[in-house]
Amino acid sequence: MFENQVVWITGASSGIGEALAYEFAKCGARLILSARREDELTRVMQSCVQNGAAADSISIVLLDVTDEAALPSKVADAQALWGRIDMLINNAGISQRSLCIDTDMATYRRLFEVDVFGKIALTKEVLPIMLKQGSGHMAVTASVAGKIGVSQRTGYCAAKHAMMGFFDALRSEVSKDGIRVTTITPGFIRTAISEHALKGDGSKFGKVDANIAGGMDVKECASVIMRGFKKGKQEIPVGKGIEMKALTIKRFFPNMLFKMVAKASNS
Ligand SMILES: NC(=O)c1ccc[n+]([C@@H]2O[C@H](COP(=O)([O-])OP(=O)(O)OC[C@H]3O[C@@H](n4cnc5c(N)ncnc54)[C@H](OP(=O)(O)O)[C@@H]3O)[C@@H](O)[C@H]2O)c1
Repeated sequence: MFENQVVWITGASSGIGEALAYEFAKCGARLILSARREDELTRVMQSCVQNGAAADSISIVLLDVTDEAALPSKVADAQALWGRIDMLINNAGISQRSLCIDTDMATYRRLFEVDVFGKIALTKEVLPIMLKQGSGHMAVTASVAGKIGVSQRTGYCAAKHAMMGFFDALRSEVSKDGIRVTTITPGFIRTAISEHALKGDGSKFGKVDANIAGGMDVKECASVIMRGFKKGKQEIPVGKGIEMKALTIKRFFPNMLFKMVAKASNS
């Protein structure tokens, strides 16, 4: 299904983006891998090739999603590789580990630059290409945190809620143009997310917390996401813990969910 499709993954140097790169490489896709760390992207690219992908089917476009001025030329570089972009997976992101009272405005702005404006800006640059092609697929790694507010994530939850709204609204605008939009809502997945998360003062949290340590294996997460893409799902929940049940509780019994979350935060 994805053979020879040009798939651009941001945040491909680690975690979910890296695991998705391996899945798409297995399917024979042409891959554009993006993030800021070139050495890690090279490692991912080499791993794809060692596992059988053709060396000329994978390229790296170094990208800081917050560098809005550089995005047009990065998108031009990406498009020039194979003359089209069939799928953009807006996956790059950072999380938060701090109470609202302890969080600087600069930290909130940083979270929004990466998790919201970086994704919107890149999507806006790629959208005209897909419209011209008359086809394309926009995906975003949102989160269960895009549906449920939890402690120590006020900025992250706000950003992920914003992304759910943005991409749901975008879907309603572009489905008539042959462009699909998929929101991915992972629960806790074992990646480096908590190590890279920001504390209130903007410094790195730097450790694996218990939720992430007990989360779903990242390879399993990527294979669930791929199954969702193949089935044409518009929203892909993925995870294995209580947080996935919380989605259903929030939908049907919101007050019960608010109580449960407050209790968990204060225990
Ligand atoms: N793990 C979870 O439990 C979980 C749950 C729900 C949603 N998510 C979402 O899944 C996505 C991937 O996270 P992950 O869990 O795989 O964490 P991760 O291992 O920390 O990966 C984050 C990726 O984002 C990239 N990135 C961060 N800032 C960037 C920037 N300014 N420009 C470009 N790339 C940037 C990082 O690459 P560089 O540092 O090389 O730039 C890295 O490749 C995120 O959007 C996250 O919010 C994760």
